[in-house]
Amino acid sequence: MKSLLLFTLSALLGWVSADIRCHSCYKVPVLGCVDRQSCRLEPGHQCLTTNVYLGKMWVFSNLRCGTPEEPCHEAINQTNHKLGLIYNTTCCSKDNCNSLAPRPTAALTVVFLTSLAGLGLWLLH
Ligand SMILES: *[C@@H]1O[C@H](CO)[C@@H](O)[C@H](O)[C@H]1NC(C)=O
Ligand SMILES: *[C@@H]1O[C@H](CO)[C@@H](O)[C@H](O)[C@H]1NC(C)=O
Repeated sequence: MKSLLLFTLSALLGWVSADIRCHSCYKVPVLGCVDRQSCRLEPGHQCLTTNVYLGKMWVFSNLRCGTPEEPCHEAINQTNHKLGLIYNTTCCSKDNCNSLAPRPTAALTVVFLTSLAGLGLWLLH
């Protein structure tokens, strides 16, 4: 009975982790995430975070899934000379790894650690 439960749990976990999702939204000052969604990553693609700055000032961020049409390309200090904007794009391939904030907040870290601890306890059962 116990091993059957363990098997079911690990099968479930394998199924869950095969399904990688990314945050998808436009994050703007004051309003935060606009049009917040979660997108499912296609195999071989990555979650994408683009932070856009005007000089040193953060203007907005675009979070989304890399797609066959627009795959993720890492870019640092990519400048748009017409608008004077600076783009920083990062790619990652873990579940919901593209953060909602340009700098992860303490609250987010606590949530992350708590869920990790929860998962650990769950697996020990
Ligand atoms: C990008 O620009 C920032 C600020 O202008 C600078 O501090 C940093 O060294 C640059 N990074 C790279 C990788 O060019
Ligand atoms: C973009 O990322 C690079 C490397 O992490 C960093 O040095 C730079 O300051 C960032 N650009 C801005 C405008 O914050």
